[in-house]
Amino acid sequence: MQTRVAKVSKDTVDILNEAGALLRSGELVAFPTETVYGLGANAFDADACKRIFEAKGRPSDNPLIVHVSEPSEAENIAYTCPLYYELASKFMPGPLTVILPKKEVIPPEVTAGLDTVAVRCPENEIARALIKSSKIPIAAPSANASGKPSPTSADHVYNDLNGKIPLILDGGACKFGVESTVITIKDGKIIVLRPGSVTPEMLRDVCETVEIAEAVKKELRADEQALSPGMKYKHYAPNASLYLIDDKYINFVEFTKEKQKTENCAVMCYDEEIPHLENKKLLPVGKKQDIKHQTKMLFELLRQADNLRVDTVYAHLPNDDGESLAIYNRMIRACAHRVIGGRNGEG
Ligand code: TXA
Ligand code: MG
Repeated sequence: MQTRVAKVSKDTVDILNEAGALLRSGELVAFPTETVYGLGANAFDADACKRIFEAKGRPSDNPLIVHVSEPSEAENIAYTCPLYYELASKFMPGPLTVILPKKEVIPPEVTAGLDTVAVRCPENEIARALIKSSKIPIAAPSANASGKPSPTSADHVYNDLNGKIPLILDGGACKFGVESTVITIKDGKIIVLRPGSVTPEMLRDVCETVEIAEAVKKELRADEQALSPGMKYKHYAPNASLYLIDDKYINFVEFTKEKQKTENCAVMCYDEEIPHLENKKLLPVGKKQDIKHQTKMLFELLRQADNLRVDTVYAHLPNDDGESLAIYNRMIRACAHRVIGGRNGEG
């Protein structure tokens, strides 16, 4: 199959209509969102959704998020509650996904047989225009090949899915760069299943009790039941061994400068550290305090690390709270819990 990449804005109506028609006819279309690129299919069409799993090589028991263009369209696919609308009024459209009891119209292929469905109303204008033009809810996981970092540009999608899907809508770089915050509601409490740019602190404005599922910071034990199927999958790990350095206990620059002398390694450093390191195979993540930029660069840099063909990658251990929690959650999985230094550490 030939994969076409089309540059789009919310005003390129012809391409959006064409993409909407493709989706309605059961085809797959990759599209930008404010978090990462999604691989979309008609959420009412079980066969189309099965094709998503084939194209990505995704395990069929990992359910998909269904995207709507207005928060109220959740009614077409799920049973909502007052807390859903309180969340919607504050965070939607935006990078928040809410798990709700599903309605019959959503086929089990989308939800991996669960009786709940993940609902998200993206803020990206192209994503919303596409949903509106297709006139259907769009089931879409991240548009990477399973096992790769989520794509934050159309190039990433093309590298992973070229020849497997007919159309990629190129809307430029994603604003946030990590996948949406996924939450579930239980007895009036919010449980964060996957951290994202809507932080637990932000959610506490709407709901008194916000818990963070244990698997967000730790690996599940083999006998533990996952609240969200995505938690139990081995996440992206670079080809090289990634080590996270706890810089509260170890001098990052001194440590990595020594490694640069003896190892074929890449260093994910802060901009401020560049002048103090050898200028080879550096992957600057941004300024130390600029968590938003570090979040946006995360998956791009992990892809670059693979392209550098190094044996090891060294990076800072991110903080595990606030805006940093989303980065911590992805990095701790990517490094297979190899942490050097005191906190959580080996040494
Ligand atoms: O930002 C995002 O959420 C992106 C863009 C494209 O919207 N999508 C995305 O989808 O990251 P995906 O499939 O890569 O991740 C969806 C996560 C998975 O961890 C999955 O297990 C979880 O949401 N999930 C989906 N439906 C669920 C359900 N009914 N119950 C619990 N977890 C669910
Ligand atoms: Mg994904």
